Amino acid sequence: MKERIEQIKISAIQEINTCLKEADVLNVKAKYLGKSSELNEMLAGIRDMSIEDKKIFGPLLNITKKELEIVVDEKIEEINNNVTFLFDETKPVYPKKGSLHPITIVSKEVTDVLKRMGFTVFSGPEMENEFNNFEALNIPSNHPARDMQDTYWLTNKELLRTHTSPIQVRAMMKHGAPIRICAPGRVFRNEDIDASHDNTFYQLEGMVVDKNISIGNLIYVMESLLKEIFNDDISVRLRPGFFPFTEPSFELDSSCFFCKGAGCNTCKNTGWIEFCGCGMIHPNVLKSCNIDPKVYTGFAFGMGLTRLAMMRYGVNDIRLMNSGDVNELEKFEIE
Ligand code: PHE
Repeated sequence: MKERIEQIKISAIQEINTCLKEADVLNVKAKYLGKSSELNEMLAGIRDMSIEDKKIFGPLLNITKKELEIVVDEKIEEINNNVTFLFDETKPVYPKKGSLHPITIVSKEVTDVLKRMGFTVFSGPEMENEFNNFEALNIPSNHPARDMQDTYWLTNKELLRTHTSPIQVRAMMKHGAPIRICAPGRVFRNEDIDASHDNTFYQLEGMVVDKNISIGNLIYVMESLLKEIFNDDISVRLRPGFFPFTEPSFELDSSCFFCKGAGCNTCKNTGWIEFCGCGMIHPNVLKSCNIDPKVYTGFAFGMGLTRLAMMRYGVNDIRLMNSGDVNELEKFEIE
């Protein structure tokens, strides 16, 4: 019997030492020290032994049991202190499939439609100079319109662009007229953040400069764009607006994509959704960009891509859009 006890002890220790997880150690413990284990049965058998045997096997069995319990506890402690060694490098870290961000999806949709209408996709830097972001756009430094866009100024006297409109300036300066561009991009304003405001969001700029461009062309392009993105029933309307770089300026509304004009929560029961700011490019802007306003005219529009993505996918908290929270964003996964 002594030999058997020794054998049990050796194999229990061997098995414990090969364990990698706490749960495995506990399984081995149950096997060797649990109620129906051989050791436990031997312990239960003590009471039927002769006094001499009791004196030998009683302490031996109890000591063996104690020893094994200590080995179990030490192994569990070792495992818990060495969790890093348990990292299984063969397992995929994040087995879920990736997806495009909702803003990327709507940006691609809009630029795809505009590309088919002959627009070139153009881009500009997020760190802009004052001339491109304001002055060339007919907003001199003392102009009250600067207050419309609370700006992050950088220590090098540049700024984080407050809109995608400086890309109009860059495109006209570089390529002159005629020109037809669209430009998605990230913009920054010093806003207090809440469910509907963020200091970082995405816009998409569109601009056409050519001979004989009129408001009619602007309406046609916007209506065709909205019909392609949403559906054929969409209609648009213009309301007077103000931007220093367009004259006349408009706010363009689209009939509500959800209720088709009947009135719902999204359109606040008006049947219309404010879609973008737009207008005919101010002659001063064309002049700043070395284009003769007597020969050329043009229109421009700037739409909120973040807002469009939120409407499209029913997101009601703008903070989610820049959060990088995969668990939330993957809900909008599109093939
Ligand atoms: N840049 C304007 C804004 O951010 C939008 C706009 C673009 C208006 C082009 C007219 C023409 O509010």
